[in-house]
Amino acid sequence: MADTPIADPTTPGQPLAGKTVVITGASAGIGAAAAGQLAALGARIIALGRSPSKTAAVAERVGGTGVVADFARFSEVRRAAAEVTELCPRIDVLVNNAGGLFPGATTTDDGHGTTVQVNHLAPFLLTGLLMPRLVATPGSRVVITSSVANIAGRVDLADLNRYPRVLGEFHAYADSKLMNILFARELARRAASTGPTATAVHPGLINSEFGRDAWIVRNCYRRPLGLLGRATTVDNGAEPLVAVATRPDPESVNGAYLHRYRPRDRFLTPAQARDPDLARELWDLSAKLVDLPT
Ligand SMILES: NC(=O)c1ccc[n+]([C@@H]2O[C@H](COP(=O)([O-])OP(=O)(O)OC[C@H]3O[C@@H](n4cnc5c(N)ncnc54)[C@H](OP(=O)(O)O)[C@@H]3O)[C@@H](O)[C@H]2O)c1
Repeated sequence: MADTPIADPTTPGQPLAGKTVVITGASAGIGAAAAGQLAALGARIIALGRSPSKTAAVAERVGGTGVVADFARFSEVRRAAAEVTELCPRIDVLVNNAGGLFPGATTTDDGHGTTVQVNHLAPFLLTGLLMPRLVATPGSRVVITSSVANIAGRVDLADLNRYPRVLGEFHAYADSKLMNILFARELARRAASTGPTATAVHPGLINSEFGRDAWIVRNCYRRPLGLLGRATTVDNGAEPLVAVATRPDPESVNGAYLHRYRPRDRFLTPAQARDPDLARELWDLSAKLVDLPT
């Protein structure tokens, strides 16, 4: 793949001028902050969100275009992907950021655990559907918001939606964030030389709207984070995503998992994150579940 540096040093104020960034989970939190930062660098922003009013407000604030889709429905992901394809002759950066920790062992209409569908299967489907545009754009890249919680994750190919009785929602979340890392690794392998680079990133411990429906997250995670100031703001959480989206050497982090800015592997991931066979098998299974060719 031609590796056109995205951050062009000849245009210091607007290094992303002429570039298109599609960002999911743009209606709130880290995604909304990243949309603002990327727009300030000159990017044209396509803001994907679930809530029409919140998405429209962010799109207006960053001078971009809003597209609405609930990732708990594959049909909406497919419709949104068609809309984005129509809107964007090129896609320089796809930021797969939408996600969350959803309480309860709920199942979507598509028949998957809500957490695994919203956090892994839907972004997998969206990326696959946008792949023609990504492949056609030199130097394109996919950035995936994972989490340090991946370290507690486990991928069971026979039951992607495992939901243990104790702390089920946390385990489902951790599993899905491990899937994000495996997805980045396998996308990097499959797309080598013809497609986008792919990098998974932990954004930090951030006081966003994360886990808004889970009282334990609200009270035991976000409230204390709120007392810590700048380090936990959504702008701070967006910065490592923007750094990957703009760095001139995306090949150097292709297939990597970054803990904010630094590649991390052995200390902050379980052994499964380094299993290439598992990454391949998860890809094939995901493709089957979302009805994409492998
Ligand atoms: N906050 C942290 O400490 C932290 C740490 C590590 C990783 N992360 C990751 O960072 C990413 C962004 O989270 P955040 O902290 O910014 O949380 P947030 O403020 O809750 O934002 C989450 C975004 O995802 C969207 N979303 C949730 N469910 C969706 C669905 N069914 N369909 C489409 N979009 C949906 C939300 O849309 P609505 O506005 O419509 O709800 C919102 O735009 C997530 O992937 C999360 O796992 C966060």
